[in-house]
Amino acid sequence: MTSGEDARSALRQAPRRRGLPVVGATMAYVRDPLKMMREQYDAYGAVSEIDFVGGVWTLLIGPDACAAALTNKDKAFANGPGWGQLVGPFFDRGLMLLDFEEHHAHRRLMQEAFTRPRLAAYTAALGPAIAAGLDAWQPGPDFQVYPALKELTLDLATQVFMGGAELAAPGEIEKVNRAFVACVQAATAIVRLPIPGTRWGRALAGRRLLEEFLGRHLASKRDHPGDDLFSVLCALRDEDGSGLGDQDVVKHVIFLLMAAHDTSTITVTTMMRHLGAHPEWRERLRAEAADLPDCPDLDQLDRLESFDLVMKECLRLVPPVPVLARRTVKETEVLGVRIPAGRLVSVMLHYGHHMDEYWPDPERFDPERFAPHRREDKVHRHAWEPFGGGVHKCLGMAFAGAEVKLIVHQLLRRFEWAVDADYRDRLNYHSLPFPADGQPVDLRPRERTPA
Ligand code: HEM
Repeated sequence: MTSGEDARSALRQAPRRRGLPVVGATMAYVRDPLKMMREQYDAYGAVSEIDFVGGVWTLLIGPDACAAALTNKDKAFANGPGWGQLVGPFFDRGLMLLDFEEHHAHRRLMQEAFTRPRLAAYTAALGPAIAAGLDAWQPGPDFQVYPALKELTLDLATQVFMGGAELAAPGEIEKVNRAFVACVQAATAIVRLPIPGTRWGRALAGRRLLEEFLGRHLASKRDHPGDDLFSVLCALRDEDGSGLGDQDVVKHVIFLLMAAHDTSTITVTTMMRHLGAHPEWRERLRAEAADLPDCPDLDQLDRLESFDLVMKECLRLVPPVPVLARRTVKETEVLGVRIPAGRLVSVMLHYGHHMDEYWPDPERFDPERFAPHRREDKVHRHAWEPFGGGVHKCLGMAFAGAEVKLIVHQLLRRFEWAVDADYRDRLNYHSLPFPADGQPVDLRPRERTPA
């Protein structure tokens, strides 16, 4: 035996939990993902197998196992064939679905669209757009937070990313928004066939509409660029002067819309929930931002430390991307367990955020745990990872921070709201998590103090 064969034969096989045919453990996950992961981790350990949407998946649970896939030392874990299994036809060739050299080349180019001066320009465009969106809100005792925020962030994304209304005829942006929502909703569809009326069928039709819409406007974006992300992507050039082809620009814009929209919505929704139940934190945030204008700039937003604490805690409690998908392109090993080539892998970030081995009283809303004198997240390099890690770490992290803070700042200025301390959100995990009841709150206009 060679030493390589010796090492391989010392590896354990991953234990397997068997589930129902076709759906496997999908329904147990969708009903209560933390419960399902806890049971899996307790019974089978950090690396195990399960029947899940689309076949057998290897689950990596807990920060040590997740870190192995994220750092990806032997380049065994690939994104494209992993995410492709869940959202492939709808987010085809988005940056997150590219791998290795090709991913590296596109990411280097796209980083130019997220430099500080660019972010400052996007932030300047976001402020007034948020104000205009919130002007249309109708406060009331049963205000549905989630759909209102979803509409707001989708409008922001279409304006800041695509250059917005000047692109489209009246009513067209709504169609684009609907197409896009259909694409996101398809992730955990059980029927995965192009049948009209099914979630999968609607998503395929949505993708066609998005490609057609963006393709139609591409030439004018190249000829008359604005400050929007679509124009910026058209103009990107590497050191040899080459840029992205038309198809790639369209595919990156579609992916960025998805990456930016639901994730920010979920973050602000969770923040509204916990700020609604904790008036002391509402007041602390208001006091911190009391001297700022309605539309602060990027530097001013960066200084809002209490906003940061609340955002981090909400991203811990409800990470908008709870699970990452990968597929092994060669045999590898995680924590002494062999994972064969070609295996679908779920990197279960969410569970690591709730493990009581790492977080004291993990279900408690306690933003101070991220404050400099406590820094509970330092307990493990990978204990808190809502933005992922390694070469695919979120490219829009700073953009997301600015957008979320701007929205919460304006909400705190304009409104007072309350959520019962014993309100329990029933999150729907069919795709990214969202409150199934829309998260109703008692929303009231607030006497505005002059800035
Ligand atoms: C709170 C909001 C957000 C969260 C929690 C979040 C989370 C994530 C996570 C976990 C990944 C890693 C996926 C993986 O490794 O498979 C990721 C990737 C990515 N995100 Fe975000 N995201 C957020 C907002 C945004 C925004 C606003 C943008 C764009 C403006 C964005 C653009 C991207 C891109 C382009 C990637 C792919 C990076 C790559 O593969 O190199 N994200 N995000």
